[in-house]
Amino acid sequence: MIRVDEKNNVFLLNTENTSYGIAIVDGRYIEHLYYGAKLEETDIRYLLREDEAPFTPSVNKRETGAFLDFAPMEYPEAGMGDYRESALSVRSVKGHRASELCYEGYEITPGKPALEGLPATWGEDSECSTLKIFCRDSLLGMKVTLMYSVFEGVDALTRSVLIENEGEEPFYIEKILSACLDMDDRDFEVISLIGSWARERHIQRMPLGYGRQNIASFKGESSHQEHPFLALVTPETTQSTGEVYAMNFVYSGNFIAQAEKSQFDSVRMSMGIHPEGFTWKLEPGERFTAPEVVMVYSAEGLGKMTRTFHDLYREHLIRSPYLHKKRPILINNWEATYFEFDEKKLLEIAKDAAELGIEMLVMDDGWFGKRNLDDSSLGDWYVNEEKIKGGLHELVENVKKLGLKFGIWIEPEMISPESELYRKHPDWAIQIPGRDITQSRAQYVLDFSRKEVVDGVYEMISDVLKSADISYVKWDMNRQLATLGSYALPADRQGELSHRYVLGVYRMQERLITDFPEILLENCSGGGARFDAGMLYYSPQIWCSDDTDAIERLAIQEGTALVYPVSAMGAHVSVCPNHAVGRVTPFETRGDVALLGTFGYELDITKLSDEEKEQVKVQVEKYHRYNDLIREGDYYRLASVSDNGYYDSWMIVEKDKSRALVFYVQVMARANAKSRFVRLAGLDPEKRYIAGGKTYAGSTLMRAGVRIPSEFGDFKSRLIEIMEA
Ligand code: GLA
Repeated sequence: MIRVDEKNNVFLLNTENTSYGIAIVDGRYIEHLYYGAKLEETDIRYLLREDEAPFTPSVNKRETGAFLDFAPMEYPEAGMGDYRESALSVRSVKGHRASELCYEGYEITPGKPALEGLPATWGEDSECSTLKIFCRDSLLGMKVTLMYSVFEGVDALTRSVLIENEGEEPFYIEKILSACLDMDDRDFEVISLIGSWARERHIQRMPLGYGRQNIASFKGESSHQEHPFLALVTPETTQSTGEVYAMNFVYSGNFIAQAEKSQFDSVRMSMGIHPEGFTWKLEPGERFTAPEVVMVYSAEGLGKMTRTFHDLYREHLIRSPYLHKKRPILINNWEATYFEFDEKKLLEIAKDAAELGIEMLVMDDGWFGKRNLDDSSLGDWYVNEEKIKGGLHELVENVKKLGLKFGIWIEPEMISPESELYRKHPDWAIQIPGRDITQSRAQYVLDFSRKEVVDGVYEMISDVLKSADISYVKWDMNRQLATLGSYALPADRQGELSHRYVLGVYRMQERLITDFPEILLENCSGGGARFDAGMLYYSPQIWCSDDTDAIERLAIQEGTALVYPVSAMGAHVSVCPNHAVGRVTPFETRGDVALLGTFGYELDITKLSDEEKEQVKVQVEKYHRYNDLIREGDYYRLASVSDNGYYDSWMIVEKDKSRALVFYVQVMARANAKSRFVRLAGLDPEKRYIAGGKTYAGSTLMRAGVRIPSEFGDFKSRLIEIMEA
């Protein structure tokens, strides 16, 4: 609910448990008042410290500079004297870099408007409301609208910014962040998600020192290395205690997320498109919308933050008709065959898979053009009939006869120098004329800022999708952007390329899911380089990582599930020794870890032993028994092997608290170890539950725990189902 106190010039944005306060100062400055646990009253201007000079410019005109460099601002601009990180930097045609936003008015509407061309959360009029604060820089003729949407029942709010040129001359936006939060420091620590290829989204926590700490990507995608999520937490924060301020970007391209501790012990937290290489020319009459940032505050630790993000994304971001459905158990041939397959091999896999209860075959990279290795043919989206003899339609029909659905891999944003497409349209690749194009995985990136490029690729791919009964598409993106240049953009718009590229990707994904609504789309990027909230708007699931080792996956899935619903995590059982790390883990453990996700297989099933095949059947049964609970339930992290070195544990609790599933993985065995009690979470303390054949009070299971015996051997997993008695 959004409350306006006209007398005090205060806006209070309330959710069930949180408040966000904004004040208008001196009729022009838009200042931040408060974000945290819920406040009932709007008379909170004392938080501005107005009686402490120089905190109100009208009272102390001499010290506007000091005011600008201290006051908590909602949307700080560069160039006027706030030397902390700015959210907005604009260059005029005369070359000056400054802007000064003056408050003009506001509007409150039920619901939430869509953001043109961008992914964003959505909600009914009864579920959310939106505050727009209008302001203006009169010298530039720039109108800025700060947009805040409040999801009352979910304890989340979203921010975005719209800039319109209402002046007579163009200007250049050189930096536009989407959200900024100023507050006093409380010995904050910074939590971010960091990693590498095959090691995505590991949780990192460190103290916030003076100066700026940021995580960022200017790789053209959200990236393997750093992730568009940032949380500031008070030092005592655990899964269930402490205060958490979190930001997550609903965007898939360049980003910066930063925390800055100032000379006055205030903290500025901000997030938006990375300004590196970014300039956007805005002609008179044009508008620019900054992508959305989701903000979550929790007074009950990280667990509450996680569940808020999960609920928000499941109910107000992911649109797919598959969201609340069990996804078909798939088998993907990538780790089974890499590029060496033909239709016979695929049918052999399909046949064995069908017998064990697997429901869909996915044909990965290597089915098109002349692609027998990763060095050619991206862009030539027609079936290689030397490999797939008889063609795609026949293969799909034969797979269907075996009782399986069929899925296919594509990488639409790319072009191989060795391809017919490149020979025909060399200018379609992103490049700087006169320079060698930086190659990565022997491929170039297509200039998706150009409509004709997106349309050209789309036509080829939609012809493939129409040619056979295809139920699933894995959309991959296997390199980052470099040598940034577009043949279609004039010199003073080249800085728009990276963002226009992402908008092109969004346009094509929107078209794909509109034209083929029955297709289940899974995004992917060299594993999990584009596992972000932007992509979730288009696909209900994303491939988490090319590292399929069950033990490595513990940290990857823990970090991913810190923010994103487990229903979105692509997770498969693969063969051992594992292809990424060479580790040998029990088949059962691989299955249990993959259950925390979409579940599937990534191995040559024809080569499994009879015993392993029997285990596949058991895993398929577990999937059917537990997936509704896992997909829709509340996630609680109980222990982390990254902290304790020995074991990992989490649980999923049904929303009505009638059922739960506890996962426990003994990562390292210990000599002479006794059993361990793991305290559960999220149950109803008043209810009685059956666990392992015995009945306990929910409060007992949460206070005293369930007993887990120590086992002989590493990497052993255990599932414990808990049912209301
Ligand atoms: C990426 C994906 C893999 C596989 C290969 C194919 O690395 O993450 O799953 O599809 O590309 O080239």
